Amino acid sequence: MPFYSDEIIEQVRQSTDIVQLISGFVNLKRKGSNYFGLCPFHNEKTGSFSVSENKQMYYCFGCHATGNVYTFLMKHENMSFVEAIQYLAEKSGIKLPEANESEEAKKARSRRERIYQANTEAAKYFYRALRSAQGELGLDYFKGRKLSDETMQKFGLGYSLQYSDDLTKYLMKNGYSIDELTAAGLSVYDEKYGARDKFYNRVMFPIMNGSGKVIAFGGRVMGEGEPKYLNTAETEIFEKRKNLFGLNLARSSRAKNFILCEGYMDVISLHQAGFDQAMASLGTAFTMDQAMILKRFGRDVLLAYDSDTAGINAALKAISILRSCGLNGRVINMQPYKDPDEFIKNLGAEEYQKRLDKAENGFLFEVRILRKDYDLSDPAQKTAFYNEIAKKLCVFEEEMERENYIEAVSEEYGIPKDALKKQVISLVLKGGVKLPDNVADTTQRPGAQPKSDDNDKYAQRVLLTWLSEEPYKYKGISEFISAEDFTDPIYHRVAERMLRDMEEGPPNPAAIINMFEDADEQQQAAEVFHTKLDAIVTDEEKEKAFRDIVLKVKQERFDHDNKKAEGGLNLEEKLKQKRLMEDLRKRLRV
Ligand code: GTP
Ligand code: MN
Repeated sequence: MPFYSDEIIEQVRQSTDIVQLISGFVNLKRKGSNYFGLCPFHNEKTGSFSVSENKQMYYCFGCHATGNVYTFLMKHENMSFVEAIQYLAEKSGIKLPEANESEEAKKARSRRERIYQANTEAAKYFYRALRSAQGELGLDYFKGRKLSDETMQKFGLGYSLQYSDDLTKYLMKNGYSIDELTAAGLSVYDEKYGARDKFYNRVMFPIMNGSGKVIAFGGRVMGEGEPKYLNTAETEIFEKRKNLFGLNLARSSRAKNFILCEGYMDVISLHQAGFDQAMASLGTAFTMDQAMILKRFGRDVLLAYDSDTAGINAALKAISILRSCGLNGRVINMQPYKDPDEFIKNLGAEEYQKRLDKAENGFLFEVRILRKDYDLSDPAQKTAFYNEIAKKLCVFEEEMERENYIEAVSEEYGIPKDALKKQVISLVLKGGVKLPDNVADTTQRPGAQPKSDDNDKYAQRVLLTWLSEEPYKYKGISEFISAEDFTDPIYHRVAERMLRDMEEGPPNPAAIINMFEDADEQQQAAEVFHTKLDAIVTDEEKEKAFRDIVLKVKQERFDHDNKKAEGGLNLEEKLKQKRLMEDLRKRLRV
């Protein structure tokens, strides 16, 4: 059950302009009565993402993502419905009434809030501990790594004491339950020892989400020891693959790029050297979700991965992920040093800036690494290497881009340009190498993909779209068509509301979506308003198509009822159906 009233949900929605809201995340340009931009929900190079001021909805012609202001925040910012309402209410200065929350919803919500709070409390505790007499070890460690007080403060660095349960005790004294502390990932529980701290005797790196709230920790052993880094396990508020260490700071950097590092310490020493655009993934490989987050900012991504084999392999993976999100990563050469931390300590920030300026194009980096596997003095291996390059070049769909890469690679490796080009074209034509499909390659967000629906569901959807665009058509069929004819549960709810609204005036699609709290359901409900009707050309054909759809929906409703009725409907009911269909045909003058 929604815990804000429909009225307030609608009031908040109306006070927010969708074009303005989405402009904060996507670069939109006006085209006719709509606004267009690059879709934030799938990878594309030409803008098929539209925002309608009139409908107060967005719709992507590529991946079919659609919804209203709430859906957008839920999908794009990972908010819950309630969080989206609160966010927008605050923005437009609407005071929300005391939430008439169900006990269950209240618990779930306050639990999330409690987990946030526990993390913040823990961060403060670790921070104080580092600066206390007992924190000397930790402080010495950081000082040994040449971190200034200012840097330690900026990143909120801390220390977990040598006791095994002092944080747990402290937080329990402050009202947190064992259950909350284990859910926050701060404590671990076992039968034998009870609740103990997850982290002890480690220097602590708070991990913050994009808006700077502490959501987890990384703890490093001082000196040697295993594991070197201990990270908070996934919790209700912490998903590794969707967060980046340092993003909360890097997002407001004035640099035109981001520097993506492997480790926490790399990020911190880069910031200390003035590179406040640095960030890192969280102890795991760089993910598609993270690439999509970076994509929103429209900046270049420079990779500062370790120069060893593991780092090179990680960089190759990151480049390929970035590319599949439409981003071109570049690689910073840190030779002869291993990582940014070492590099800057030895050669300084100025030298590092030069390396940034000279960062190598991701594709050329890939080819250079590939080159190491071949002995080019052997003609057979040389041919194999060239063929491998030709295959790789097939990822570029746009001719001009492909040409530019062919030119760059042939120059670099002395390959005859025309021969390389021929080979690429023949590979593409043979289809042996599949060109990447933009739309298929999404971040696998549920709901972003068009639902493949069976026929009857499709007819229901077409009818609803049609009525929403030409509401006057409802008059002619209102006697025959009711919400019950929409057998799909979501369409049913949409129809109920829409048909009722239409008794009084035009329907309000963006408001109808509010009835659903779940982002997937919102997506499906919103799809109702975006079925393509333009396959139907002339007005005459259009009339006929409309009739066909109405009849189809009705007939399928009856079929549905018949299937559901055990032992089939009785004769009388069947006759009734038949009569009704005939009446409907007559009314529609078929
Ligand atoms: P320093 O060695 O202190 O300079 O740290 P670093 O940040 O350079 O670490 P390193 O290059 O060894 O590793 C990169 C990142 O991988 C770290 O920041 C951690 O996020 C993660 N990592 C490293 N070791 C471990 C480990 O033992 N366990 C886990 N879960 N993550 C690790
Ligand atoms: Mn490192």
